[in-house]
Amino acid sequence: MSVEKLDLSSPIAFDSAEERNAAIAFFNAAYRAEESGLRQAHELADEVARTDPGLAECLRLYGDEEGWHRGILREFLEWLGGCVRPMGRTTRTFYALYGRAKRMESIVLVNLMFETIGSTTYRLALRRATHPAVRQMLTILTRDESFHVPLNVHFLRSALARCPEVSRARLRALYYGTFAALVASTIPSRRRAEPFDRIRGEVLARAYRVELARLFLEEEDLGLAPSPLFLKLFGLDRAKLLGRGPSAVSLEAAERSADRADVVVEAY
Ligand SMILES: [Fe+2]
Ligand SMILES: [Fe+2]
Repeated sequence: MSVEKLDLSSPIAFDSAEERNAAIAFFNAAYRAEESGLRQAHELADEVARTDPGLAECLRLYGDEEGWHRGILREFLEWLGGCVRPMGRTTRTFYALYGRAKRMESIVLVNLMFETIGSTTYRLALRRATHPAVRQMLTILTRDESFHVPLNVHFLRSALARCPEVSRARLRALYYGTFAALVASTIPSRRRAEPFDRIRGEVLARAYRVELARLFLEEEDLGLAPSPLFLKLFGLDRAKLLGRGPSAVSLEAAERSADRADVVVEAY
């Protein structure tokens, strides 16, 4: 983190004020996600520090990485000609609700779903981004958030091992509810960010559905694989999802992202 610097030496020109505004909105949303991730990770680290120092250290380092992202996003927003804006009403309500979650397994489940839509959005935005600094920022975020997905699954398994009596039905309901809310969030997000990232609403919603549904298909121990009816409701098919290769939470995916110097970030 200390050696990787953003190269903001060449200024950016936008075609319109609307595009600049959308870019500022896009990276403000990223900033708020980092802020929330940092706080949750450090709170959880404090909570488990006494009983599991190894897990606490891992959570702390994860939070530190989110804090680093937050710092470079602040710098990046200034370079875009913007700043950190106060949250809008929807975002504020969303984070306020999420902030009320107290149980570790709920927090890390929602976290890993956030990381999934984050890395998916950044990867999609990379298809159209041309300015080298924008590409660098998106590449850093895609690379690290992709690793945070399997990392949070590790946290989820640790939380469940600490508290085996957790109701899987409750966790499943949380997964389904968050899934639907995140897919619905593409509507206001398109209003704000599309002039910058040029990701069409149906493309983003489809990518969210696919990536969120793939998460637990093969993680039988977690009991979170979506039911055939749920998949059907969202226009998805289990066999086709499995055909897309190993999911973002697989060991294979985690190993591919373990050393950030070796990670090749590809557009979605
Ligand atoms: Fe992050
Ligand atoms: Fe993250």
